[in-house]
Amino acid sequence: MFWLWLTLGIVVLTTANAEHPFWIQEIEELPDLSYSAVSRNTENVYRLPENVVPLNYDIYIDLYFAERQDRPFSYDGLEFITIQAREENVTNVILHSNVDQINSVSLLSENEQLFPLDTDEPFTLVPQYHFLRLNLQQALDLGSNYTLIINYTSTMNEGPMKRGLWRGWYIDDEGVERIYAGTHFQPYNARQAFPCWDEPLFKAVFKIHLSKPSSYSGTFSNTGVESTDILPNNRTQDNFLETPIMSSYLVTFLVSETFQVIASNTSLTPPVRIIGRSNTAGLGDHALDLTVKMTEHFNEYFQIPYHTLHPNLLNDHIASPDWASAATENWGMVSYRELYMIIDPRETIMSVEHYAATLVSHELAHKWFGNLITCFWWSNTWINEGFASYFGYMSAHQMFPKYDLHEHFNTRYIHNSLSFDSGQSTVPLNHDVNTPAQVTGHFGTISYSKGAAFLKMIEDMITYETFRKACQYFLLDNPYAATDQYDLYNAFARAIDEDGTLSEYSNFNFTDYYRIWVNEAGYPLLTVEVDYENGGMTLTQERFFLSPSTSSTGQIYPIPITYATESGPNFSNLKPSQMMTTQRLVIPKEAADEWVIFNLQQHGHYRVNYDRKTWNLISQALLDDPESIHYLNRAQIVNDVFALMRAQKLTYDVGFDILKFLSKEINYHVWNPAISGYTWLRNRLRYVSESQATFDSYILDYMSQVINVLGYDPDSNESVTTTLTRQEIMHFACNLGHEGCRQNSRNKFIEMRDNDAWVDPRIRRHVYIAGVRHGGQQDFEFLLNRFRNSNFANDQLEMLRGLGATRDPQLLTRYVELTLENAVRSQDKATSFNYALLGNPENANTVLQFVKNRINDIREAYVQDAPPNPVHTVLSNLASYLDEAGLVEYEEWLRSTQSGTPQFNSAISAINSARNNINWGRDNADMILSAVRGSASTVTLSSFLLTAILLFAFVF
Ligand SMILES: *[C@@H]1O[C@H](CO)[C@@H](O)[C@H](O)[C@H]1NC(C)=O
Ligand SMILES: *[C@@H]1O[C@H](CO)[C@@H](O)[C@H](O)[C@H]1NC(C)=O
Ligand SMILES: *[C@@H]1O[C@H](CO)[C@@H](O)[C@H](O)[C@H]1NC(C)=O
Ligand SMILES: [Zn+2]
Repeated sequence: MFWLWLTLGIVVLTTANAEHPFWIQEIEELPDLSYSAVSRNTENVYRLPENVVPLNYDIYIDLYFAERQDRPFSYDGLEFITIQAREENVTNVILHSNVDQINSVSLLSENEQLFPLDTDEPFTLVPQYHFLRLNLQQALDLGSNYTLIINYTSTMNEGPMKRGLWRGWYIDDEGVERIYAGTHFQPYNARQAFPCWDEPLFKAVFKIHLSKPSSYSGTFSNTGVESTDILPNNRTQDNFLETPIMSSYLVTFLVSETFQVIASNTSLTPPVRIIGRSNTAGLGDHALDLTVKMTEHFNEYFQIPYHTLHPNLLNDHIASPDWASAATENWGMVSYRELYMIIDPRETIMSVEHYAATLVSHELAHKWFGNLITCFWWSNTWINEGFASYFGYMSAHQMFPKYDLHEHFNTRYIHNSLSFDSGQSTVPLNHDVNTPAQVTGHFGTISYSKGAAFLKMIEDMITYETFRKACQYFLLDNPYAATDQYDLYNAFARAIDEDGTLSEYSNFNFTDYYRIWVNEAGYPLLTVEVDYENGGMTLTQERFFLSPSTSSTGQIYPIPITYATESGPNFSNLKPSQMMTTQRLVIPKEAADEWVIFNLQQHGHYRVNYDRKTWNLISQALLDDPESIHYLNRAQIVNDVFALMRAQKLTYDVGFDILKFLSKEINYHVWNPAISGYTWLRNRLRYVSESQATFDSYILDYMSQVINVLGYDPDSNESVTTTLTRQEIMHFACNLGHEGCRQNSRNKFIEMRDNDAWVDPRIRRHVYIAGVRHGGQQDFEFLLNRFRNSNFANDQLEMLRGLGATRDPQLLTRYVELTLENAVRSQDKATSFNYALLGNPENANTVLQFVKNRINDIREAYVQDAPPNPVHTVLSNLASYLDEAGLVEYEEWLRSTQSGTPQFNSAISAINSARNNINWGRDNADMILSAVRGSASTVTLSSFLLTAILLFAFVF
């Protein structure tokens, strides 16, 4: 799955996981309360006992839409579950259920006799844990089959956000609004459609029977239809073929009137099909190309062809207008948010097309890593998600090299992980989760980004072929089973042992390496000191924390060491020269005045700091001969320098001195972390407006070269990465008030408005924004109208972003109120709210009035009880955009009207963080500006220098 959510702030604006074309951090990170608010005790009360297991489910669901007038959008269920006791003396059978009502429960023994249940209380519901418990009069026989029969009724959720079985909407090719039913069960929502053992380890065979009004002929599931029964009252029942043995969260279906196959390739077995609403017919070819090629790739890579997984599995890919995450890997039928499937180069922005390639690859990889083998419990989510994320980039690169995904892996995953994993609230890859909130929390940066980065680091160490062999062993040893970190370890150990690919490292123990990286949080900072007189380099390590006040932990991480020097500038040998397993290590080197750079292409999950002289040599080389240093290491330097400055491991003077080379830089990977770093500082200078303006003018100076080289108009044959560079640079430049960007974009917008001119989607983002930001009501109405009439979900989202940039409070109020309507889909609501905050600094005050006036409507429309709570996210984000007066007003309102609401504490704590940021900006503005000016002589005593001095005074 890809849960692209708005974790407090890390945007991932629609984001999941996912995540997505918006992974530049546009909104500040705040302390992630969703984690810390949940108690981390290891109580297992949410887990099912394993004394009884399901083997087989036969599930009949009768779906009713508006035609059932007494209970519209409801369903009746009847299921027959074959179960077995795995222990003696079992007198309770406990499974999950989260349906509205259980009408009856009975148990049959093998000879079809009723098995006696407690006469007073045959079953008990424990709603807190979603448990349904059968109370038996006597123990089950070990190893015998019993049939559990449950009759129940329930209601579809409105919209996709709460997952489970829900209803969505779309407009068909005749302009009619239609309702469809969909399911989204990952990770714990199958229990909402049918009572079941809803944990990944309880794998079973599922046979689904769906009845619905006969006009709902667009019905799809994991497998094909085996037979169809005509029922009375114009109803039809589709009986689907049985599934392979699999986890409950992978079951899915979609029931609609007019969804249809919009593209297919029948030369593969099973055929690959793209399915969508009827007016996307003909628009699925791009998605088809992605899915076909990635299927072929994985067939070859794993040496377990898809069609051998199970004869009944389909290879369908559904474009769903409503979908809570970016996509979900239901076996046989993957569901995607429609914007990633319906791609037209004349209408779709490049970052969406780029992301779609990795998304399809991610979901297809799950068919092996996740579906064939599955994490035993969500504590191991990273095994599913880490591999899918790794393959999402590395495998997609092999089939679609034009996207350079193997290099975008760094900004997408490594930078993300290095950022999150240096906070105090981070967790190890493998860690206990129990409650639904904890499970949801583990579908986050650590599982996806650190998981993927950890795997990439292993691949470099043990070689591509050994890594691939380990993957195959893992799959071959555990098919249709649930696995944990030890199974994965065994596969690696076996492949490494056979190939001897780690034998060159003396005193290196892979068991320790794996244990530490998987089970300990955080990562190291490597400090390099070069002895320029006598030769040799001394490496030391400590755990890296972003917060300067965090004290050291003494943890030692095994670090794969790679480096290049001015006289040996080989940046492509990614196999480590040695493994550092101690706190200190000396590497021999001849004495010479030359730069050294560690962590080639930033593939290792760690940061690097150097002694002052080495930084000077690097800094000089970056100015004199930047191409002598690989662009992914230039990117690393930018990414590390911003983090080191924040952590007070490097002064801003030295840091900005190193960053001077950006004035000549034109590479995407280097600019991406630079924009993140500048944005972090700009957000703190927001309320020291003169300083921010000065800071902005310096940034714009640094950007003038890259803006000139890129130009405002894309070339027909430019590289994808160039297009992405322009998109990010121009978006940032326009936001900073770059005059050329503003005028050029505004003119293009007017051409579109007045003459229906086509604007290349590769530049649409900033054209929409500048057009509305620097325009008036006419421009707003034009774009709103265009939004309402568009058939492209991806272009629509860009238009929302543009509309959110209006400076007119009345228009902005209309915009945010639009998010309460159907027109802005459930999964886009919180994102659209954020667009209003991102649009202009002064927008936050209008948004605050909207929040105060419409909080109850927001709670309902944004679905506050959806995981992860979108209302919690937007209320916290709002705080980071308000000025002091706004914060006072917001806090007063929260305290007088909202205390006791689920979002109260997190909003108050976001207000405190916002105040800290504002204060930090005030205290450090002069110091930062003087550092940017490069006038090291006029350093003002910043607050933190002052604090440091005071601390020393006390200590000594
Ligand atoms: C099951 O119950 C029987 C009879 O009370 C007892 O002898 C036996 O030890 C129990 N088995 C287990 C595994 O507890
Ligand atoms: C129990 O059910 C499973 C799955 O349906 C079946 O394979 C097995 O043969 C059954 N065992 C007995 C003893 O009937
Ligand atoms: C590696 O370390 C583990 C304990 O962490 C130990 O059990 C194992 O024997 C070591 N392997 C070798 C080859 O030294
Ligand atoms: Zn996934």
